[in-house]
Amino acid sequence: MSMTDTDQARQQARQKARATLERLWAPGCAFLGTPTAILGGAMSWVSERNLVSAISNAGGFGVIACGAMNPDRLAEEIAATQALTDKPFGVNLITMHPELDKLVDVCVEARVGHVVLAGGVPSGATIKQVRDGGARAIGFAPALALGKRLVKQGIEALVIEGSEAGGHVGPVSLNVLAQEILPHIHDVPVFVAGGLARGDAVLGYLEQGASGAQLGTLFAASSESIAHEAFKKAFVRASARDAITSNQIDERFPVIPVRGLNNGGTRRFMAHQAATLTRFTSGELSKEEAQLEIEHFWAGALRRAVIEGDVEQGSVMAGQSVGMVKAVRPVAEIMHDLVEQAVDALVAREARCGHLHPTETAIG
Ligand SMILES: Cc1cc2nc3c(=O)[nH]c(=O)nc-3n(C[C@H](O)[C@H](O)[C@H](O)COP(=O)(O)O)c2cc1C
Repeated sequence: MSMTDTDQARQQARQKARATLERLWAPGCAFLGTPTAILGGAMSWVSERNLVSAISNAGGFGVIACGAMNPDRLAEEIAATQALTDKPFGVNLITMHPELDKLVDVCVEARVGHVVLAGGVPSGATIKQVRDGGARAIGFAPALALGKRLVKQGIEALVIEGSEAGGHVGPVSLNVLAQEILPHIHDVPVFVAGGLARGDAVLGYLEQGASGAQLGTLFAASSESIAHEAFKKAFVRASARDAITSNQIDERFPVIPVRGLNNGGTRRFMAHQAATLTRFTSGELSKEEAQLEIEHFWAGALRRAVIEGDVEQGSVMAGQSVGMVKAVRPVAEIMHDLVEQAVDALVAREARCGHLHPTETAIG
């Protein structure tokens, strides 16, 4: 073969691989209205107009993190995002927000296409409110039974998030969740999340039946993220093992596990729990007061890390994939690499296994 023939063959192999990838995530792309089925997971303080529009403009699906915003503030953020992109994006609402109904109304009035209901299992009434308003409802399935229940209640897509992820996490890894859930849910698209930093890994889950993937950590450290330089530098420096979950020291005082970088804050949190426990056992604090003392420790801590850059005492939420963040890079470059890595993996597999004669694959 001449060089040009080799080049042509290589190009054809990539075209074929690209078509395969497009087929694999077609249900996810159709649901989101995007050319790639990659969601930018909502991250409080980080997922605002700049990052969300950058992800959507790069062919992914950006999601605004409403967090503790009030309805007016959310309306302002949606409008500002719409000014930066004409591509689809979503809004993530925390179901325990005291003004949840009003926040849904804000999304509906602003014609946001997709609402992600996070931070607990949404009620059937909230799902209905989203759908009646003309938006699509996405929920989280922490286990198969809950996923099935949500589908019955009208949820239109699910995210399954493994414990590798940054932020509030469940106890089960994506590897196991995917095996438990993907073979059994076919009525709605399922997006995988947690620990994903490469397109070949995303491809593996697409082949298991996922319709797309949600990534957070990788985008938090992108050029367009408004996170403080010190926050991004901490991501670049960290390895996977630095992203640990917060520990609870006494079963009477539950602590919701949050994955973030180990720092002075996480160490102080352990000492704070121990001191609070002593004050409780000595009778100085009631059980409720002690629980509140523990919960209040992290109040404002994510903002302190993301916006003010206090990465030593703030909450530097990050997933285990932080170890694969090697530099601060533009969102478009990150998206491009994810797609090309998936295509590379498909091409490499075809080269390894695609041309075997049927008899060569038979065992014995
Ligand atoms: C800094 C940070 C803040 C986050 N905040 C939220 C949030 O407010 N709501 C939410 O549903 N998920 C939140 N997440 C989870 C992400 O949306 C996403 O599911 C997760 O980051 C995916 O895993 P990965 O970090 O391994 O990519 C947060 C994650 C990070 C890293």
